[in-house]
Amino acid sequence: MTGSPALMPEPAPIVACTISGDVQNFDLLIEDMEAELGEKWGDLSFDDAIPFLSQSDARALEFVAVALGAEDEDKLGIVGEIIRAANEKKVKVILVAEDLGPMALHQLLRLGADDFCPYPLPEGALHEAIQRVRKARPTTATIIPGSDGAEEAGAQYGGTGREGVLLPVHGLAGGIGATTFASNLAWELANVGEEGNEKQKPPKVCLLDLDLQFGSVATYFDLARRDSVYELLSDTAAMDTESFGNALQLYRDKLHVLSAPADMLPLDLVTPTDIARLILTARRMFDFVVVDMPSTVVPWTETILSSSQLYFVLLELDMRSAQNTLRFVRALKAEELPYEKLRYVLNRAPKFTDLSGKARVKRLSESLDIKIELQLPDGGPQVAEANDHGLPLSEHAAKNPLRKDVMKLATSLYALTQVEAVAAD
Ligand SMILES: Nc1ncnc2c1ncn2[C@@H]1O[C@H](COP(=O)(O)OP(=O)(O)OP(=O)(O)O)[C@@H](O)[C@H]1O
Ligand SMILES: [Mg+2]
Repeated sequence: MTGSPALMPEPAPIVACTISGDVQNFDLLIEDMEAELGEKWGDLSFDDAIPFLSQSDARALEFVAVALGAEDEDKLGIVGEIIRAANEKKVKVILVAEDLGPMALHQLLRLGADDFCPYPLPEGALHEAIQRVRKARPTTATIIPGSDGAEEAGAQYGGTGREGVLLPVHGLAGGIGATTFASNLAWELANVGEEGNEKQKPPKVCLLDLDLQFGSVATYFDLARRDSVYELLSDTAAMDTESFGNALQLYRDKLHVLSAPADMLPLDLVTPTDIARLILTARRMFDFVVVDMPSTVVPWTETILSSSQLYFVLLELDMRSAQNTLRFVRALKAEELPYEKLRYVLNRAPKFTDLSGKARVKRLSESLDIKIELQLPDGGPQVAEANDHGLPLSEHAAKNPLRKDVMKLATSLYALTQVEAVAAD
């Protein structure tokens, strides 16, 4: 995992960030930022900015100062995306530009940058720009050119205008049941309220298979693996809600699925920026975005972790799970990543009556110093049968104990988001 210090949660609240190729080329900006904010600001590279801005913590930022030199003319594309990502989080953007042509400047201001200062910074210029953005009314995503398509597509999919909840699922060892859990959770979420309360409209749910090499979501829903997925992932700069929507497949009119690509591709085909763009797009269009993660840790694992609300980690009651959990948590702690978002799910947990099994679960959680919040039962051969038939458990064996527990989880996750939505209104 490649953690940049700027991506880590800081003890002092960071209220602003500089974003540049190399902030050392802008020493006057460093001086002015220090004078204005003391230590309450950080620095990001162009590549780190989008993953950072796509996580929910970015809302705490008041503004970003994007510094561009003449040599950065070729960065206009990514700067445009940074501006859009900042606008989405209602973070103001101050451009600080040295020798940037009027056309480029015009283009960036049109994209939604809020203010501009020339570089070298004239005395008091940054201070005044900060005052102006503080006074200005909040920007809305609707005034950003290019976001209209998203609104439309969101409406087409019944988008709520809110950001969807990101729920990644990560199996800590091969074959542990991560894809089964992710697939059935996504399906149950897409069906919340169907039984019992017909008036309740189920949420819009999308399942992304990011286990790019051996992803089996398509198999578990009997869907094709599409070439358009590769095209989407190999050029995310060109991705919009339409191309994203076209790469999705609809399962039984309820669940949108992005399968893994048809061919086996290297895991580093996609960068953290690609994944951040993908997640940003998916969350704009859906209420819940469930992600099946590869069990390998990749550079974009932290991108997903940082943007997620909860991060489900699957383990079993065996030595390899225990050791892998230890390694995983240690790696996250070393990088100061938000490991507190992890929610441990014990799959094939011992039955209620299995007292020695219960004692082993207790010992496992004590020795790893983790809280196992969810225990899923062994669903027997019906589970593999459902997967082989390309059916969610509810369609193949609705009374299976694993299905019942996943359905309960989906219902309570949905209820939780409803409560939060009411609190936020
Ligand atoms: N709780 C369960 N009860 C019974 N069978 C299960 C359970 N969970 C998973 N399985 C079965 O275990 C097998 C592996 O499951 P799955 O493909 O979901 O694991 P995975 O962690 O995604 O594996 P991979 O490492 O290949 O990604 C499948 O045959 C599935 O049906
Ligand atoms: Mg899997």
